[in-house]
This record gives sequence, structure tokens and C-alpha cells, in this order.
Amino acid sequence: MHEPLVLSGKEVSASVFDDLKNKIEDLKNHDVVPGLAVVLVGEDPASQIYVRSKTKTFNKLNLHTETYRLSSEVTEVSLLDLIKKLNQDPTFHGILVQLPLPKHINSDKIINAIDPNKDVDGFHPENAGLLSIGKPRFIPCTPKGIMRILNHYQINLKGKHVVVIGRSNIVGRPISILTSLKSEWANGTTTICHSGTPDIKSHTKNADVVVVALGVPGFLTSKMVKDNAIIIDVGINRVDDDSVKGYTLVGDVEWEGVKKIASAITPVPGGVGPMTIAMLVENTIEAASDHTSELSEPIQSQYHHSLQPAK
Ligand code: GUN
Repeated sequence: MHEPLVLSGKEVSASVFDDLKNKIEDLKNHDVVPGLAVVLVGEDPASQIYVRSKTKTFNKLNLHTETYRLSSEVTEVSLLDLIKKLNQDPTFHGILVQLPLPKHINSDKIINAIDPNKDVDGFHPENAGLLSIGKPRFIPCTPKGIMRILNHYQINLKGKHVVVIGRSNIVGRPISILTSLKSEWANGTTTICHSGTPDIKSHTKNADVVVVALGVPGFLTSKMVKDNAIIIDVGINRVDDDSVKGYTLVGDVEWEGVKKIASAITPVPGGVGPMTIAMLVENTIEAASDHTSELSEPIQSQYHHSLQPAK
């Protein structure tokens, strides 16, 4: 029976953490402990889980982290005041405001207030702009993690048709830029599909690589993909069931059907998810190392190395 290569983010993230441990040690020898401030507004259950898991990872690596939990009724002004304070706090090299924010808060205004040199999410317009011209400072964590998975499994996008489903600033837009950049491991031909695309299947059927980041359980079915396609599933959706937990986590890909056709596929859980946190740690270390000029070797992510011009 056909078995695809399962692209394990769990394994790739473990090797990323192994590399990062040396860099953390190096920084500690220079009296620098990378620090991340996390701002969590309200009670969104998914956000609570994500933030808990980020904090756990930072603590395990003996990094400095603090979570600022604010009521869902917090005013925009108080939130801006907190960001101002965090921008000036030298113990925090990175600041992350967990999204989504409550409706009464203008997310753009909050993101714009973060010091772009501490914007480890890569969401600030300055960082989004730098990425779009192929000179990234901080690359958003989930898209960076996807590129790292492809890199780890030696999947080169050169000459490949990549179809991205979703155009969010968190995943869809930046991954469409990364996959199409003129660089050694990218250089793909990328199409973005979104809610305004009339016939998504007509695009995915021709794709060598499909990245689906919609948040719709089982959206991508076997009928929508061509034989031997490479499938990257960014969705993490809770589907209620009769299990002990009361729910199962599923991706945006209809796993049972698509795995029979794909040549390689990321699972959910254990695919893209673990990479997001690994890249957040990496970005925070990059932010911290900007303050330290005498490291034994320059701290640059593997992905920055692979952003060399295409031959
Ligand atoms: N919400 C969902 N994904 C993310 C992320 O990568 N960063 C932040 N700040 N919020 C998110």
C-alpha cells in the first residue's frame, strides 16, 4: 500500500532545540538570558493553550519569560501603555501579543506599537515589509517552521508549483512570500487561494505542494490533490467527540484520503504545530543575540543561510 513520507515537526523541532541549546549556552556565557514577554488578553481557550505551551517550552530551556494576562475588557490605552513598558524593559528581547484580540481593540495599532526589533512574531509592518523584499529580520514563526520542515527533508521548491490556501498575515501571506522568494530553497511558483477564489480545486489539482491554512477541519480532500503532491497542513481544529477528552485535534486536510495520494504530508498533531514554538524560541534568541556582538559564532538561523540568491 502507498505510504507517504510523514513530515514530523516533532522530530525537526527536537533537532532545532538541540542546536539552540548551544546558542543559549553561548549567550549565557555573555550574561544574556533571552527573554520573551507574552501578552494574553481575555479567555480564548485556544489562545490559553498556545500561551501555556510557549511558556512551558521557555521554562524548560531556562529562558526568561513572563505572561501578562489582561481582562477581555482592558482598554486599548492600557494595552498600549503595557507595550511601551515592555519595549523599554531590557530583560525582554521579544514581545508577543497573542492574537486574536477582543473586537474593541485595534490589533494593527497594538502590533504597530511593538518595537520592531522585539517583534519576534514578525507581524510589525516594518518586518512584514522586510520579508516581502527578501531581506527578513524576523520571519513569522509558523511559515518559518514550514520552510524549516521542507529544508530538513531536503524538499526543494525550485521549479515546483505551490498553492497556498489562506491569506492571513500570520501564515498564508508570509508563506506565499517565502515559497516564492528568489533563494536557494524556495524559488517556487506560488498561487494564493482564498475565500474569493471561485474554484479552489482547479488550482490545488495542479499543485506540487499544497499549504492549507484555513481553520476548516478536513477541507482538503483526496479529490482536490494530484498524485504524489506534498501536503502541508497548518490547521489545528478541535472536533467534539465521545473520547475521554471530549474532542480530537484534526487538521485542514482529510488525512485518511489524502495520505493515500500524497508523497509527503505533515500530520496533525505533530506536524507544523511544534515548529511554531521552536521558531519562536529561535527568533527570541536571534533578538537577544543582536545585543551581543562577541559570540563564538554569529547567531543566524539556518533559514537565513538558505535565503541566499538562487543560482
Ligand atoms: N495566534 C495564532 N497564531 C499566532 C502566532 O503565531 N502569534 C501570535 N501572536 N498570535 C497567534
